[in-house]
Amino acid sequence: MERIEKINVLREKLSLVRKADKKIALVPTMGNLHEGHLSLVKLAQSLADYVVVSIFVNPTQFVAGEDFENYPRTLEADLEYLKHLNVDLVFIPDMAEVYPGDVQITTEVVVPELDSIYCGEYRPGHFKGVATVVCKLFNIVQPEIAVFGEKDYQQLLVIRSLVKNLNLPIDIYGAATMRETDGLAMSSRNMYLNETERQKAPVLYKALMAVAKSIKRGESNYQNLEKNAISSLKNAGFKPEYFSICDSKTLKPPINQDVVIVAAAWLGKARLIDNVAVQSYD
Ligand code: PAF
Repeated sequence: MERIEKINVLREKLSLVRKADKKIALVPTMGNLHEGHLSLVKLAQSLADYVVVSIFVNPTQFVAGEDFENYPRTLEADLEYLKHLNVDLVFIPDMAEVYPGDVQITTEVVVPELDSIYCGEYRPGHFKGVATVVCKLFNIVQPEIAVFGEKDYQQLLVIRSLVKNLNLPIDIYGAATMRETDGLAMSSRNMYLNETERQKAPVLYKALMAVAKSIKRGESNYQNLEKNAISSLKNAGFKPEYFSICDSKTLKPPINQDVVIVAAAWLGKARLIDNVAVQSYD
């Protein structure tokens, strides 16, 4: 596995890869890799000949009150993990590479509407930071394919939207959410749960599954389903931000049965997000 820090070195390397007619896939990450990243890398490997994983903790997607400085950085363990997965190249740029100018007044990428609902409402500016850094990484790596986790469903839609609106020649794929055996979606944030909270955490996924089941059975009073799910989460000790049944492509109110149920809720110090697509649920 090659490890590259500089954009010019990366570009030289990737031009050779392209000359060898290899299809390049990018898996952007912020490091602190865990089993949840496995499906992203595996999917990228199944779609492309050459897989680049980037590790960069992006300051512009942290909003006021969120701790960029203390975000877990586990580079040595991440590198071991990626080597073990046979990733071809890991790109680890520093701040000056990714944000060559003043990071406070950088050029930004905005994905209107989608960036201000659900997680965007509770984390204003977050998706602008994500869209900006992902666009930069796309420009730097110029992959044919990029893979993102379906766990961050809204992020996946934001990225699909930016690729479409900016005419970028990149195919975006969503990798299935990896779950613990009790259903909890794997996430770096799970480490903020204490033992009791960890026992309780799968209740979020169970609530999503229960609503998915009701929709499949023909229940059409979505408002009621949402209201009941929010109360049951509150009763279980969660502080829900949203629990919503929406159109799977736009996150607007559903127009048919192609819906996704998205939720975010605090449990202790952990902000958990998860989603279930009704179409793919059986
Ligand atoms: O999902 C993440 O880890 C980040 O939001 C991403 C896509 C790597 C951008 O920093």
